[in-house]
Amino acid sequence: MKIVNTINEVREQVRAWRREGLSVGLVPTMGYLHEGHKSLIDRSVSENDRTVVSVFVNPMQFGPGEDLETYPRDMERDAALCEEAGASLIFHPEPSEMYEKDFSSYVDMETLTGGLCGKTRPIHFRGVCTVVSKLFHIVTPDRAYFGQKDAQQLAVIRHMVNDLNFGIQIVGCPIVREEDGLAKSSRNTYLSPEERKAALILSQSLKEGRRLFDEGERDAKKLQSAITEKIQSEPLAKIDYVEVVDWNTLEPVEKIEGETLIAIAVYIGKTRLIDNVLV
Ligand code: PAJ
Repeated sequence: MKIVNTINEVREQVRAWRREGLSVGLVPTMGYLHEGHKSLIDRSVSENDRTVVSVFVNPMQFGPGEDLETYPRDMERDAALCEEAGASLIFHPEPSEMYEKDFSSYVDMETLTGGLCGKTRPIHFRGVCTVVSKLFHIVTPDRAYFGQKDAQQLAVIRHMVNDLNFGIQIVGCPIVREEDGLAKSSRNTYLSPEERKAALILSQSLKEGRRLFDEGERDAKKLQSAITEKIQSEPLAKIDYVEVVDWNTLEPVEKIEGETLIAIAVYIGKTRLIDNVLV
């Protein structure tokens, strides 16, 4: 496995693979890799001849006052995890390699990005779409792998790839959880032991929503209220949103009919965590 920092090195390597007729999978990440990321890498390794993992904490997708500076980093451990999972190349650029001084072109989306996380993070998806577009152009993969954990991001990327004819297959992968149910996240490291316990309220409240749905509840407001009440029973939790939306449009629904996303964002202390379930 190679680790490279420049766009040219990635291009050269991918060209060499293409000459051999090899297929290429891409797993975009911000590093501090865990089992969730590993499940994406495993899937890519099983479906492609070569897998590229990008590790880049993308400044453009962080708003003012967000955790860009404190975002956890550990390149040595990330490299070991990628190597063990069978990745062929890590692309680990400096911000200056990705964004030259006069950078001024962006990929923005009018639909899908206004609600859910887009409400509290208004510039987030412009940063995600721009950096993922750049990674797609740099690596030109056959397939790219994204987690259902960031459900809105997955929907946005799928839409962007369709709108802009990237010709890359987007593969969505299920949420990987800790044994007690907490969705794995690089940001879980911010939690104190007490907050770590409180964070269980996310998966538990969604489980409660899922249970009500399985029992036949189709009224979105009722599901929303049940989940909200459950989260409010945890003193350390502060709700950002609890939404029941159509999985294709991400618009709120009143009655659950087609594929529906129940998505939540909750502050545990200062740490903002997200989780979701598809019904
Ligand atoms: P990051 O948060 O590092 O996540 C990289 C990928 O791993 C995303 O597709 C995310 O959905 C997936 N992932 C994270 N936790 C997961 C879990 N518990 N189970 C399954 N998949 C999980 O998402 C980003 O980085 C960035 O926005 C990026 C796409 C790299 C653009 O900068």
